[in-house]
Amino acid sequence: MQVVNRLKSTLDNPFIFNALQFAIAGTQNKTRRLIREGLQLKAGERLLDVCCGTGEFADVALNEYIGIDINPKYIEYAEQRFGKGNGHPERAFVAQDITGYEFSRTYGTFPKAMLINSMHHLSDAENLAVLEGIARVTTERFVIVDMDPTPSNPLSRFLAKQDRGQFIRPLAEQIALAEKFFEVERGGEYYSGLCGQTIIVCKVRS
Ligand SMILES: C[S@@+](CC[C@H](N)C(=O)[O-])C[C@H]1O[C@@H](n2cnc3c(N)ncnc32)[C@H](O)[C@@H]1O
Repeated sequence: MQVVNRLKSTLDNPFIFNALQFAIAGTQNKTRRLIREGLQLKAGERLLDVCCGTGEFADVALNEYIGIDINPKYIEYAEQRFGKGNGHPERAFVAQDITGYEFSRTYGTFPKAMLINSMHHLSDAENLAVLEGIARVTTERFVIVDMDPTPSNPLSRFLAKQDRGQFIRPLAEQIALAEKFFEVERGGEYYSGLCGQTIIVCKVRS
């Protein structure tokens, strides 16, 4: 158990995290395509990426992008690889705990927002705080991608059980959380490489 925990803690290193992510979920291009379809991003629209991690999905944005994550190592890596450090001054990465943070005071509102592969790291109460914060600053559309706890492929089911996230929920429970603050347009399951995933496409309530 200690060995497993030690191995999991090495995932704090952005290079190790990305390598493992690639081994399990592949290029994640299908996820990018599904997010783009769900968000219906148009030129000029700003995108908020909550729990952005190492910035893997920053390239979903067409223009201005703000990624926020609690892990400063991930943020530093994202800035170097996908932000100003790599010729993208329109992309900002912020190291911050989103559960206690008022985005709107610093960054205003966003027509589109996303929360990718992160719900299963947060308790129901934390998710509600995060979703409430996102709902406060999002004006049009919001997409959630998370883990499917019961994919049909046994290897994928095994991998889901090894994940660091302690709150892997079925799609129906993920939707129930999202519905507290958003109008859920649709939800579904798919595979990214060997990783069983869920996607929930939401609209801001009018
Ligand atoms: C599995 S990673 C997903 C990262 C990225 N969205 C992706 O798909 O590659 C989950 C992320 O949630 C971040 N996170 C967890 N709790 C957080 C919190 N309270 N505030 C901000 N970020 C948090 C972690 O640091 C981690 O980068």
